[in-house]
Amino acid sequence: MTRIEPLAGTGDAAIAGLLDTAFGPDRHGRTAYRIRAGMAWLTDLSFAALDADGALIGALQSWPVALHEPDGAQTPLIMVGPVAVLPEHQQRGIGRALMDRLVETVDLMPREPLVMIGDPEYYGRFWGFDAQATGGWDAPGPVERHRLLTRAPAGTVLPEKGMLGPRGVPFAMVPREESPTR
Ligand SMILES: CC(C)(COP(=O)(O)OP(=O)(O)OC[C@H]1O[C@@H](n2cnc3c(N)ncnc32)[C@H](O)[C@@H]1OP(=O)(O)O)[C@@H](O)C(=O)NCCC(=O)NCCS
Repeated sequence: MTRIEPLAGTGDAAIAGLLDTAFGPDRHGRTAYRIRAGMAWLTDLSFAALDADGALIGALQSWPVALHEPDGAQTPLIMVGPVAVLPEHQQRGIGRALMDRLVETVDLMPREPLVMIGDPEYYGRFWGFDAQATGGWDAPGPVERHRLLTRAPAGTVLPEKGMLGPRGVPFAMVPREESPTR
């Protein structure tokens, strides 16, 4: 029996071990890590999947980020991910249960729009994420356009252009890379 619980209280080493297994140890170079560089994960929007013995078999983290415009304006967003399930437990609904918990939580008490880099076939199918808003957005590293997804409360108008980066830092400090979004 798998339980979904708040991730807070799970040790950093256990989380890192799970992510290394799901993504590989070179995961830190991914664009998603640059977008949220220096941020602490949101304890109320991050969840653990625990097996019957209380061992960590899946995790979802969320982070405060923003879409930065050159004039200094920032649109606050919540970056979702990584979402990770240990390989031997995949395809059993655990990723779905983690995401369900997140989406139920933000739908109950509306928050900033969600953004993530992920498979639209998965995140669109169950939770309505899509890439419609992000065509003109930049990221501090390579991103496949169709995988840069958002989910926002109905009626939300998101800026057409901007650079994704950590929330609260000045535009000039947002991490960049020479060959951005592709
Ligand atoms: C992606 C991941 C989180 C999905 O979790 P999971 O527990 O294996 O998936 P679920 O059992 O919840 O899947 C539910 C359904 O979605 C489908 N699905 C799962 N991952 C999918 C994907 N990447 N693309 C499309 N469909 C997917 C499943 O086949 C299943 O379909 P079904 O109900 O028709 O049988 C997990 O496979 C994982 O950790 N992968 C490695 C890390 C990763 O790539 N994370 C995502 C980027 S942040």
